[in-house]
Amino acid sequence: MYLEEISHTTGVTLVLCAFALLLLVLHGRRREPGCSLPPGPTPWPLVGNLFQMEEQIHLSLTNLRVQYGDVFQMKMGSLVVVVLSGYSTIKEALVRKGEAFAGRPNFFTFSAIANGTSMTFSEKYGEAWVHHKKICRNALKTFSQAKSRDSSASCLLEERISAEALDMMEALQKQADEVGDSGLDPVKLLVTSVANVVCTLCFGKRYAHDDKEFLTIVNINNELLRLFAAGNLADFFPIFRYLPSPSLRKMLEYIDRMNNFMERHISEHLITFDRNCIRDITDALIAMCEDRQEDEKTAMLSDSQIIHSVIDIFGAGFDTIITGLQWSLLYLIKFPDIQAKILQEIENQVGMNRLPQFKDKPNMPYTEAFIYEVFRHASYMPFTIPHCTTDNVTLNGYFIPKDTCVFINQYQVNHDMDIWGDAEAFRPERFLSLSGHLNKTLTEKVMIFGIGIRRCLGDSFARLEMFVFLTTLLHRLHIENVPGQELDLSSAFALTMKPKPFRIKISTRN
Ligand code: HEM
Repeated sequence: MYLEEISHTTGVTLVLCAFALLLLVLHGRRREPGCSLPPGPTPWPLVGNLFQMEEQIHLSLTNLRVQYGDVFQMKMGSLVVVVLSGYSTIKEALVRKGEAFAGRPNFFTFSAIANGTSMTFSEKYGEAWVHHKKICRNALKTFSQAKSRDSSASCLLEERISAEALDMMEALQKQADEVGDSGLDPVKLLVTSVANVVCTLCFGKRYAHDDKEFLTIVNINNELLRLFAAGNLADFFPIFRYLPSPSLRKMLEYIDRMNNFMERHISEHLITFDRNCIRDITDALIAMCEDRQEDEKTAMLSDSQIIHSVIDIFGAGFDTIITGLQWSLLYLIKFPDIQAKILQEIENQVGMNRLPQFKDKPNMPYTEAFIYEVFRHASYMPFTIPHCTTDNVTLNGYFIPKDTCVFINQYQVNHDMDIWGDAEAFRPERFLSLSGHLNKTLTEKVMIFGIGIRRCLGDSFARLEMFVFLTTLLHRLHIENVPGQELDLSSAFALTMKPKPFRIKISTRN
């Protein structure tokens, strides 16, 4: 009797499984006539291809491209993900077929950011989104290009960046005197200096390097990025949204604290707002809300969406730059001859009587080439933020249905032997022509800010900031490796991959 019951239950289970399989097969067959779905590794039941991924996910996906090509598909738990590699394929998707690839997946974690009003993560792609991104771009541009109070700077952004870079250089110099030959860890100062640039632009507020509230927010931002990169199970297995998970709870708590910090600043700005005196990006966004009645397009967005744009800019604007500077310092001490060439360019183009400025950048192709090579070689943002198709689309002859999650493998492009030849070598000269000019066709192929409709909003801002920070440091300081320290250029997979901790020895230049 007992056995009979078991075999009956097993029978029912088998029928259900067969039915589910049939549904999956039928679902899989929904495609354009003549187009097949992208190839890919066979998924396991329930977990998909999750356990076929090694710890360094970017390397696993780069290896899979060798077998399956530029467009392949896999399953992360219950979620189908199409992975795109190869410069031409990515350009075809994100630029030529840009609209079809401009969505963001409906991830559970994405919808928690900025209370679901985020232009970057949660808003549906469409006319209102396009206008929202334009508003963010204008707020960033107008405010960073605003006139400086200091006559030696060309604009407010330059004033803020130069002041922080100088402050950091002096603080490093002071620390170096205290620690002597054992060297120092530059990360803490980098973090607070770069975060201060964003804070002054967004909220008109600069913090002391040891301010408790400031350090808490900076740490929360770092933790959030770490948790996001770890990939949240709730995004791949919806059932985990309803089960107690310590990391999901922690993530939601951090998002909540970040949202509260931002909202407190926004509320203070709303109370003290004076349209005749726009102090920062938050004020610029509030002014846009006040004008929205007159502008039909702006009326498509809520006040909350517009004002919360400051969270998008704040969140994206410092960890990415800090990580770029961390990598830059590591390469500078690993390759002292490259540091010497940058210094030579500083001496020739800036001289020792003034500090480097934005206007020097076009005249310093070697330094620019160095920054491009850091972006390429470190590839510290191996993927863009995940995309999602907004329509049925074909790419390289494969059919990709609407609402498919798409990963863009930037790391693969930056290490593609067909583009770079000796891709593993760190060689800024690869970007320079025989006459010493930047090779724009090649710099365009460095993929770190994404491309197309979803391209990073702060790319030129970021390049300028990295240029001024690096050249200001090198203008006065000589940076070298600490005796006996092994320098490791590898890193662990993350949304923004950091170098392993290292120390630098600093001395003042004559
Ligand atoms: C070196 C520094 C930076 C790097 C490497 C970087 C990289 C990226 C990448 C890879 C994306 C995703 C693109 C995609 O999904 O296709 C992105 C998006 C974005 N970035 Fe950056 N970023 C940097 C600095 C900045 C700065 C300084 C800001 C603002 C001041 C900023 C604002 C944004 C915004 C708002 C988005 C979302 C765009 C959208 O969803 O349409 N980023 N960035």
